[in-house]
Amino acid sequence: MSSYHVINSQLICADYQKEYPMLASGKGVYLYDTNGKEYIDTSGCTAAVLSIGHGVEEVAEVMGQQARTLAVHPTHLFYNETLETYLADLCDFAPDGFNKAWTICGGTEAVENAIKLAFQYHKAKGRSTRRRVVGRWGSYHGNSITTLDVGGFKVRRDYYTALMVDHLHVSACFPYRKPEELSMEEYETSLVDEFRSTVEQHPDEIICFVAEPLVGAALGAVGPTERYFERIAEICREHDILMVADEVMTGLGRTGKPFGCEHFGVHADILACAKGISSGYLPLGAILAHDRVLEPIHASGEPFYSGQTYSCIPLAAAVGQTVLNYIKTHELVENTRRVGHYLKEQFRTLLDLPCVGDVRGEGLFLALEFVQDKETKEPIEPQRFFARNLQSVALEKGLVTYACRGTVEGGRGDHMLFSPPMILTTEQADTITSVLRESIIETWEQIGG
Ligand SMILES: Cc1ncc(COP(=O)(O)O)c(C=O)c1O
Repeated sequence: MSSYHVINSQLICADYQKEYPMLASGKGVYLYDTNGKEYIDTSGCTAAVLSIGHGVEEVAEVMGQQARTLAVHPTHLFYNETLETYLADLCDFAPDGFNKAWTICGGTEAVENAIKLAFQYHKAKGRSTRRRVVGRWGSYHGNSITTLDVGGFKVRRDYYTALMVDHLHVSACFPYRKPEELSMEEYETSLVDEFRSTVEQHPDEIICFVAEPLVGAALGAVGPTERYFERIAEICREHDILMVADEVMTGLGRTGKPFGCEHFGVHADILACAKGISSGYLPLGAILAHDRVLEPIHASGEPFYSGQTYSCIPLAAAVGQTVLNYIKTHELVENTRRVGHYLKEQFRTLLDLPCVGDVRGEGLFLALEFVQDKETKEPIEPQRFFARNLQSVALEKGLVTYACRGTVEGGRGDHMLFSPPMILTTEQADTITSVLRESIIETWEQIGG
């Protein structure tokens, strides 16, 4: 038992035996521990949170100002100007047709509320049998029971299956790990056929399909095959199944476009956002709904059946607004595209190492997958904890990384997700790559490669 006062969890001080370094502060892409050691955070605060970097004066200023003026308000009697301006700007940042939004406290709540809104869309159209969601194996959509269920990230999900209902799952679209015997086109067709057959086996039951445009921590920045999302969207439209894009990691410029779905011709109906939306300065998430989702709900005359104490509060809106303005005025989407491309090219040089099997992702949302054998793509034995050991070696050298497991069939496989702040420079990208190379070589030797 550690001497800390926190309840150890899967994500917080998970190892009871270990002493963790104490962090003192952060500035830009750097973190400093209480001994004054400097680290570059390649994870962006575990994963894709830190969009604009630590210690941004404007945010601190606005938080103080808004806290002094009006932090929260009685939402049952008043509306709020700070919120209104922010939601309008957030919708402007999104693809056409998204004209209304709503804020909550994070990613789990965003996806959960997106599902609720999709459910209400069908209720408003008089469809009482629709209650199931289609998710994909190897995705993560949050840590509530419903989002864990829909997500299909076995590492976090399996413990709670007794509490789950019967949402539906289809296979992940994972080009690097497609069956050898299929061409990429055949693989895509097999996934589209699987989706169609799932839909057809459950006529008038399905509310929505939830997917990350690029799968985040569960598989490591995995994008789809060329026409995967377009073809799935066609089936969804045929059956009036809504598409929910989980943009919790990929939204707000992280992949080099405002939203991840814009890379793949995904015509989403609801966007769920969090993490980078506030750059971690306070807990914030949002859903953006396309006009076509809200039309039947408005016509029904009913309100959205949701709402929490911290939905739509002015303090969160002020922070979200400042982060959004910062992303726009510092052209961080453009920087993410440019430096992300550069970092990916540098990462590709690591493919000469015996255990680096794949480099993938878009913008500053990249991953390395580690394998025992590059020909067969055989994963490294789980008991050797390659990614976790690599994370420790890199930390010693001043690099904060995010080790993930479960890349293959939800159990085996090691990868690392990289989502550094969107302010990253090419010089910092060079440092990251060279420290990572040293760390991979050292770890591979340590585990007896
Ligand atoms: C894609 C995705 N969706 C949803 C969530 C849940 O977000 P939160 O942890 O803010 O509840 C996460 C968190 O990692 C995520 O990566």
